[in-house]
Amino acid sequence: MIETSRKLITLDGLRRDTLEALLNSAVRYLAPDAATAHRNRLAGEAVTLLFCEPSTRTRFSFELAARRLGADVLTLDEGTSSRTKGESLADTLATLAAMDARLAVVRHAEDGIMSRLAARMVPGTALICAGEGTRNHPTQGLLDALTIRRHRPDLSNLSVAIIGDIAHSRVARSTARALDTLGIGEVRLVGPRTFLPRDNEIPGRPMESLENGIRDADVVIALRIQRERMDGDECPDLETYRREYGLDATRLESLAGADTLLMHPGPVNWGVELDPGLKAWPHNLINEQIHNGVALRMAVLEWLAGDSHGFA
Ligand code: CP
Repeated sequence: MIETSRKLITLDGLRRDTLEALLNSAVRYLAPDAATAHRNRLAGEAVTLLFCEPSTRTRFSFELAARRLGADVLTLDEGTSSRTKGESLADTLATLAAMDARLAVVRHAEDGIMSRLAARMVPGTALICAGEGTRNHPTQGLLDALTIRRHRPDLSNLSVAIIGDIAHSRVARSTARALDTLGIGEVRLVGPRTFLPRDNEIPGRPMESLENGIRDADVVIALRIQRERMDGDECPDLETYRREYGLDATRLESLAGADTLLMHPGPVNWGVELDPGLKAWPHNLINEQIHNGVALRMAVLEWLAGDSHGFA
């Protein structure tokens, strides 16, 4: 039973000890028996998945996370729901709350929608952002931090380069925010001028030069070009982008180093931001990010479900 309304809609403003508690809790859920050992933790709760934008990783990992904690899972299919009859998202959430489905996981393309939904939350429910326009993807930011921390526990000396379409990337915003709050040494935001952030909201140093941006980086996070969030003229020629900012093993090893951790939130456009040869990079953590996402989302669901479910 959730005593008060709770939310995870952004990482902005969350304290370091809160993020560390979530990451530590997620580590517990990475244990080999985690798929079956915690079946009672959220028994009696229902988690609703409302994905108004496409998703594979986030949606299924939230579903697995909820099931592994013993919760019921309801998935809204927008096209066959009463959303098609004009019911607002806030009213949809209130409808589900009336059925005692108290935890809602929402993905939506519209910037700002999460705070509007949060303002209309029914008491006793929880709202989790699973991706909001260009602004927030808090669980992705946390799972990226978790993945880095498992390989390089001391974040304070690390240089992390995030490369690509920073301007349209909710992942860049949330991952940079998580790392900054956790005391990362340095975040570099690397990309062509049109892809660099247009405000100072993302913690990190904007850099146009790929060579300088990834030189001696401990971690490189490549991003997909978010064509769905661009006006027609904004999208660069993909061949030019690949030539100037695409990574292959030779470039990564010669500039960053043979030990550099390679990450990507997915889905990857192989042959654009990453050469397919990088699937065999010895420190390719892309599948590990996906794996860690389930445990991290178990920790988030447990946290938001409230103290009565044992979050410590
Ligand atoms: N990283 C991420 O959000 O992937 P999906 O769009 O597949 O959920």
